[in-house]
Amino acid sequence: MIQAKLGFIGAGNMNRAIIDGLLSAGVNPQHIAVSNRSEQKLGYFADRGLTTSTSNTEVAALADVLILGVKPAQLLDVAQELKATCAATKPLVISVAAGVLTEQIAEVLGADTPIVRAMPNTPSTIGEGAAGLFANSLVNDGQRELAKTIIQACGIAVWVEQESLIDAVIAVAGSAPAYFFYILETMVDEAEKLGLNPKDAKALAVQTCLGAARLVQSTETDLATLRNNVTSPGGTTQAALASFKASGLDETLRAGMQAAVARAQEMAAEAARGR
Ligand SMILES: NC(=O)c1ccc[n+]([C@@H]2O[C@H](COP(=O)([O-])OP(=O)(O)OC[C@H]3O[C@@H](n4cnc5c(N)ncnc54)[C@H](OP(=O)(O)O)[C@@H]3O)[C@@H](O)[C@H]2O)c1
Repeated sequence: MIQAKLGFIGAGNMNRAIIDGLLSAGVNPQHIAVSNRSEQKLGYFADRGLTTSTSNTEVAALADVLILGVKPAQLLDVAQELKATCAATKPLVISVAAGVLTEQIAEVLGADTPIVRAMPNTPSTIGEGAAGLFANSLVNDGQRELAKTIIQACGIAVWVEQESLIDAVIAVAGSAPAYFFYILETMVDEAEKLGLNPKDAKALAVQTCLGAARLVQSTETDLATLRNNVTSPGGTTQAALASFKASGLDETLRAGMQAAVARAQEMAAEAARGR
């Protein structure tokens, strides 16, 4: 169980998802403090026994681990505000802000700051997230374990050993919930055109997506074998898959993921120029 004192800066969707996960896992609410610039969102946390404040520095002063959950545009200003407190308390810093590099945060907080960058995705808000984590060279083994435990409170997390690989995490997980929504939208629309009512079309498509994912998780069998297992020669599934292949679905999906990586790289360059 986590014994470190955790300070969350920002009481928005992502920090709330992590905190809810930690509380469900049995972390003592008295070990968690959260700040937000407006008071409104803090009531939810105060009701659960957390320490709350509209002062970021007050929360930072209490924390062994500081989780920065504000929007990317606000992140470096918040870091500037916390600089003096962090110099005194030397916390492990975890940033969930998309597109802000550990080096940019270290430029503000100091080159000796252990920083973990996390790239979660929106299913985190229901405890089903998939996140990538990168640690700078100052993060020790115990801090790595602690950071992973915190982020895994709302899903799964994997380490990448180069920060540039966070862009691959964006392509396969960060942006990817939308790919599945898009595929489901198309499937539901086509099922309606084939005659099913909208409610049944959506229920069948969504449950099939969920069932397929759970089937993958429940077995050691690789993806290609699972696909072959439901593809009888000359059958309906084979007809559908042959049509997907002929129209270049593989290349389309790969190109989409590469476009996500290219955009992540552009955004990082834009953020660096904007400083
Ligand atoms: N949501 C996701 O699924 C997701 C996925 C990947 C990464 N992320 C990252 O997670 C971070 C947070 O995203 P989110 O969706 O949770 O956003 P959000 O719901 O808008 O939360 C941001 C929170 O930060 C607070 N805030 C802003 N400036 C502040 C300041 N100076 N001091 C203290 N609090 C301040 C805001 O308070 P007010 O309400 O008072 O403005 C708001 O409650 C972002 O950097 C985003 O890139 C989110």
